[in-house]
Amino acid sequence: MAASKLIEKYNVPGPRYTSYPTVPYWDEQNFTLEKWRASIKRSFKESNISEGISLYIHLPFCESLCTFCGCNKRITKNHNVEVPYIKSVLREWEMYCELLEEKPVVKEIHLGGGTPTFFSSENLKLLLDGIFKIAKRSAEVEMSFEGHPNNTTKEHLKVLERLGFNRVSYGVQDYNPTVQKAIHRTQPFENVKNATQQARQAGFTSVGHDIIFGLPFQTKEHIIHTIERTKELMPDRIAFYSYAHVPWIKGNGQRGFNTEDLPSAEEKREQYETGKKMLLEAGYVEIGMDHFALKSDSLFKAVEDRTIHRNFMGYTNSKTQAMIGLGVSAISDSWYGFAQNVKMVEEYQDLVSKGILPLCRGHNLNEEDLKIRKHILNLMCKLKTSWYTTQEFFPQLPDVLISLKEMQNDGLVEIDSNYLKITEKGRPFVRNVCMAFDMRMQRNKPEIQLFSMTV
Ligand SMILES: C[S@@+](CC[C@H](N)C(=O)[O-])C[C@H]1O[C@@H](n2cnc3c(N)ncnc32)[C@H](O)[C@@H]1O
Ligand code: SF4
Repeated sequence: MAASKLIEKYNVPGPRYTSYPTVPYWDEQNFTLEKWRASIKRSFKESNISEGISLYIHLPFCESLCTFCGCNKRITKNHNVEVPYIKSVLREWEMYCELLEEKPVVKEIHLGGGTPTFFSSENLKLLLDGIFKIAKRSAEVEMSFEGHPNNTTKEHLKVLERLGFNRVSYGVQDYNPTVQKAIHRTQPFENVKNATQQARQAGFTSVGHDIIFGLPFQTKEHIIHTIERTKELMPDRIAFYSYAHVPWIKGNGQRGFNTEDLPSAEEKREQYETGKKMLLEAGYVEIGMDHFALKSDSLFKAVEDRTIHRNFMGYTNSKTQAMIGLGVSAISDSWYGFAQNVKMVEEYQDLVSKGILPLCRGHNLNEEDLKIRKHILNLMCKLKTSWYTTQEFFPQLPDVLISLKEMQNDGLVEIDSNYLKITEKGRPFVRNVCMAFDMRMQRNKPEIQLFSMTV
């Protein structure tokens, strides 16, 4: 079947599966703070001994609004917000540490946003020093942050490298001035070049670039140009995201252009195929969904070693049992449960100041969720899953396989008695395969659009 026909057939709204169940399907009624505390304690106990825990810290502030952005951010030029916010994050961290019987071992830290480099290097040091004052650092700790190429300074990189950071990802999006104007993000190549070179000089071993296809006014030629320029810098990793158009999310600034200004699904897929071909020719390997890495990068090694994992931070090199999310809107994952923080800075700071974990919702995983979660993780990370043991089998599996018959006939998946594999042709449709396994969604199909389109 021609690529355009496949797109017509399979381009439907679908989750990006950074969790299973996905957030709209969380059973909030059955979630309580007590259950959450218990699941965190259990998880900490299990993880302390072997693998350590992961920390995600959400730093929401940005100086200027990009109109395509789907992240939870607060736009301000007032830098007096930095210290009070850090104090709240450290207080929240204390609350988690107070739950435990011993100091947690931190295996992974990721600073996301918003824009972590909105904060001064002194304040980022204040934050990290505060984290490690009451935690142990794993000998193999991996520390990464999201940097804005327009405001990441040599000082940021020097201080963060000294604190143990070795990986940075920079938001590039697209180098074309028309596209940049539409998304309200003026960012010359020189800024990205300087930020990339300075990170390498400071000792960072993995520098990533985020590129988006499907942006307003973007064409295949813009993708070619953006990737040509990217090749001049050869970042270790590239996140090649499909633009998620989710204008219904309040206050996300996506209303700065019209839906008619966006490329069609077919044009979008052509942009992806063009970019992918160029990246593969340049020596990158495609990993899971949206990601490319050089063979020298640790993400590629994680694929080879079969340790690659996916959580709310995206793809990570290894699995940790517990991931604590600190800061506004951050999501924590105890493996047995999920919990999300409130999204507004004021409410977050107020709750934390009263000694209350600033949660707004959560979910406890049942037996079925835990099984399905494993399959979805396998599909998202390794593009295949299997059911050789009874623990991997679930009663609805035969129906799931029947529902995938059409994808099988279209050459997108291979199905055997004990395993399912997504073919190279099927890679762009990995989210569709996951949706067949998504029991919560299958039982309760959304009546309104909750997710961005899969293509
Ligand atoms: C928090 S931002 C990166 C850090 C920094 N704020 C910046 O913009 O450079 C993380 C990345 O998410 C991606 N992103 C944000 N909104 C998106 C959307 N609607 N669709 C696809 N990717 C998106 C962008 O590629 C962006 O670089
Ligand atoms: S893309 Fe980055 S800088 Fe722009 S609004 Fe989103 S988080 Fe802020």
